[in-house]
Amino acid sequence: MAGSPVSTHSPSDGPPSEGPSADEQRKMEQAYAQMKRKMAMQSLGKRIKHKVMVLSGKGGVGKSTVSTGLALALAQQGHKVGILDIDITGPNVPKMMGLDGRRLHVEEGRIHPAQGHLGVKVISMAFLLDDDDTPVVWRGPIKLGAIQQFIGDVEWGDLDYLVIDFPPGTSDEPLTVAQSLPDIDGMVIVTTPQDVALLDSRKSIGFAESLKVPVLGVVENMSGYTLHGRAPAGTEVQIAGPGGRNHTVTADGEGDFHVTLDLFKQGGGASTAEEFGIPFLGALPFDPGFVRGGDDGVHRIVSDPEGAASVAFAKVVAAIQAQIGQSGSKGLEIV
Ligand SMILES: Nc1ncnc2c1ncn2[C@@H]1O[C@H](COP(=O)(O)OP(=O)(O)OP(=O)(O)O)[C@@H](O)[C@H]1O
Ligand SMILES: [Mg+2]
Repeated sequence: MAGSPVSTHSPSDGPPSEGPSADEQRKMEQAYAQMKRKMAMQSLGKRIKHKVMVLSGKGGVGKSTVSTGLALALAQQGHKVGILDIDITGPNVPKMMGLDGRRLHVEEGRIHPAQGHLGVKVISMAFLLDDDDTPVVWRGPIKLGAIQQFIGDVEWGDLDYLVIDFPPGTSDEPLTVAQSLPDIDGMVIVTTPQDVALLDSRKSIGFAESLKVPVLGVVENMSGYTLHGRAPAGTEVQIAGPGGRNHTVTADGEGDFHVTLDLFKQGGGASTAEEFGIPFLGALPFDPGFVRGGDDGVHRIVSDPEGAASVAFAKVVAAIQAQIGQSGSKGLEIV
């Protein structure tokens, strides 16, 4: 039986001269850990009611702002919510959730999420990095192993929603998540109104189809900036908008006026959605408060729960919930 992987040792041969080698022991432990992880991943299908992926084809369109905003808007409704920040090379969810510099707590081999605003549970690679400014270069298998660990080894508890924020593009990360996490409700595609971002979001829609994860719809971010001003009641005000477009508004009886300027071309998200026959989930305004919120760790939804951005997020959340309610289809099963 030379070369057979099966041991031919029998009790009548007497005690074996030696136990498993250190290498065999390590492999057995790895296989056991992998099995436990798979079981844990499977149980997430039941313990986390809804799982929503947030993706975009292009970088910097606001995925992390939208992911954190959705999580906070859902938490505001009283749901138990978690965010999984899968952006391993540039994780910035912790900063947006006021958890900068936090470390994860590990107990008996289980990773415990940090808790951000409104009790939202957060897991991010940023918690494991010593230095925010040093980019991490992960080789493929290590990166994928880290993602699986972030899904299978985390003690999320029972959640109503898990929002998963990704790096830009159609990379390995969404595929690993789609294969590891059972019963994904679907993905939200974030775009800005410019043509280039729209072209890339078209790619994301094709990618979603290849992952067999339903597309819940498209969100148009940085869609128009609303300018508020005051002038004597009834006065006609001329405003020179971007791209040479002039706007004329009249101050109301209280002397207030507001006008929404299209910083980019508006309505692209809606037309992409229509072209692909997928839902348009709503538009989020351009709001400098998002940048400040990203920097000082207090999201616009927390600092201004009644403001225009919070209202817009609430509408997007309602549209996503309507889609989740309608779509009976689920993501890939673990094999
Ligand atoms: N609606 C908005 N109004 C104003 N600024 C915004 C808006 N949405 C996002 N931003 C700002 O744009 C920048 C990029 O946003 P964010 O980090 O959310 O994008 P991203 O798609 O996650 O980027 P990456 O691809 O690098 O992960 C941030 O500085 C953020 O504050
Ligand atoms: Mg991001």
